[in-house]
Amino acid sequence: MKKYDLVVVGSGAGFIVLDAALERGLSCALIEKDQFGGTCLNRGCIPSKMLVYPADLIREAERAPKLGVDLGKPKVDWQRLGERMFEKINMNKYIREEYLDTPNLDVYEGTAAFVDEHTMQVALKDGTVSPPFMAQRFVLAGGARSRQPQIEGLSAINPVTYETFFGPRFPKKPWKSLTIIGGGIIATEFAHIFSAMGTQVTIIGRAPQLLRGEDPEVSEFLADQYRAFGIRLLLAHTAVKAQMAGSKKRVTAQCAQTGRQVDVDSEEVLVASGVVSNADLLNLRAAKVDIDENNWIKTNEYLETNQPHIYALGDINGRYAFRHKANHEAEVLAHNLYANAGHHRVDYSKVPWAVFSFPQVARVGLTEQQAVEAGHKVFVGRNYYSQVASGYAMGYNEGDADDGFVKVIVDEHGTLLGVHIVGFQAAALVQPYVYLMNAASLPRAQDGHMHVDVGTYEPVTRSMTIHPALSELTAWAFDHIDWLNPIN
Ligand SMILES: Cc1cc2nc3c(=O)[nH]c(=O)nc-3n(C[C@H](O)[C@H](O)[C@H](O)COP(=O)(O)OP(=O)(O)OC[C@H]3O[C@@H](n4cnc5c(N)ncnc54)[C@H](O)[C@@H]3O)c2cc1C
Ligand SMILES: NC(=O)c1ccc[n+]([C@@H]2O[C@H](COP(=O)([O-])OP(=O)(O)OC[C@H]3O[C@@H](n4cnc5c(N)ncnc54)[C@H](OP(=O)(O)O)[C@@H]3O)[C@@H](O)[C@H]2O)c1
Repeated sequence: MKKYDLVVVGSGAGFIVLDAALERGLSCALIEKDQFGGTCLNRGCIPSKMLVYPADLIREAERAPKLGVDLGKPKVDWQRLGERMFEKINMNKYIREEYLDTPNLDVYEGTAAFVDEHTMQVALKDGTVSPPFMAQRFVLAGGARSRQPQIEGLSAINPVTYETFFGPRFPKKPWKSLTIIGGGIIATEFAHIFSAMGTQVTIIGRAPQLLRGEDPEVSEFLADQYRAFGIRLLLAHTAVKAQMAGSKKRVTAQCAQTGRQVDVDSEEVLVASGVVSNADLLNLRAAKVDIDENNWIKTNEYLETNQPHIYALGDINGRYAFRHKANHEAEVLAHNLYANAGHHRVDYSKVPWAVFSFPQVARVGLTEQQAVEAGHKVFVGRNYYSQVASGYAMGYNEGDADDGFVKVIVDEHGTLLGVHIVGFQAAALVQPYVYLMNAASLPRAQDGHMHVDVGTYEPVTRSMTIHPALSELTAWAFDHIDWLNPIN
């Protein structure tokens, strides 16, 4: 039986560990059941942001007359938008070809499952099954898929999911009306995209606030903005029933407080109700790998499972579903397995993220309430866009409904506990705080001495940089330093 040094399941963030092993000349296998590049490239971060930015431009053009510039009513070339997006998605073919041509690497196209703790097999796409193979180490980076909520009649109306939207169900033109089931990140971003394109959008969100878990001030600010754009928000409403009503798709939403039911008819329905783990595909019982009650693979901060030779990273471990988090975990694991330079750990208390809504929302650390509950003495500062010259120049005036803000949460020593931003370029603006928070707590050198990184760029490269924010431009510049050629 063939035995590899490393087997990686999933071609999303898992590629980082794979590349590190290949660079060291190790024998590897990569297993992918779908398009290469994972969710981010094919149906997630990248294509969605290629639609978000044009939507941003439309909203900015609408604001421009306030500043004395009339850009006219934006005309959308939806076909061009779609072409640009699918050109990018189609990069998955080059990724596949590159892997197929890589020495020391066997690529299996199909679904991997364990036979026992050390042996795996692949149900190949051509309908056959691969011979079983073994590995010294397995990295499980199989991600997640959209959750289909239990709603009576839902499958009969054939709703769109993010998987089908960035594929066969991409519409020929923006829908006239769209109902989104879910009030989380995908719902918020898709509502922005389609509302800016002229679609009548309704969000049915089970939680009482948009973006459950965000600071309520931020969520309320965004909800007010969305209402001003004409987006209908049915919050604290659960989608309970779906059916066709003539040519329209009807979703019935039930109010959590009153029990009253509301019918919402629209041309299309998008299900954005969270994700479920792909761990069920891996036959983990055979490998005796522990999962939690929601099927996420249990890992520690070194990405180790209960089996010493099996690791899990990215969405499949259920700890924050963000690509920069998955990448960071993969970098930490690659370092720990192959750098021979001590062990790094992932600090999950400093995972930043951004929602590419209009305006953007970004965050790192605790909310005010979480900080109080954690027993800190809490101090809060707020600054509004209208209070700085740049914001004023952009037309944000004190008291205006669109005057976003930065909210910083610190303790009595000035230790940063959390930062929340809602407004223009929030995703990029939050990033320096992420570096600061990490500078204070980077893992120390192996010899036990304090390792001072103040004034070096280390906090930048060792932090998670929000994907896909412009901060990647500044953070990744350090990857391009030519250490072999000083300029003097
Ligand atoms: C619409 C949308 C927008 C998003 N936008 C952002 C964003 O702006 N910023 C951000 O940080 N995050 C965003 N995310 C989340 C982000 O895409 C994910 O967190 C990230 O891609 C997860 O990476 P991963 O490597 O863990 O898994 P994936 O990228 O999902 O890769 C897992 C791969 O494993 C394969 N696989 C699974 N099981 C098996 C098996 N048994 N055998 C073989 N192959 C298998 C799958 O086919 C898949 O290709 C978005 C997600 C969605 C859906
Ligand atoms: N910018 C980014 O980084 C980005 C962008 C897109 C996606 N993502 C990732 O992709 C993942 C999936 O996104 P998501 O928006 O689908 O998940 P999400 O953020 O978890 O939100 C899903 C929402 O749907 C609600 N819901 C579930 N069933 C419902 C029903 N029957 N009726 C009404 N509402 C219902 C949930 O309510 P409850 O709260 O009550 O469960 C939850 O609020 C996220 O975890 C996110 O990390 C990231």
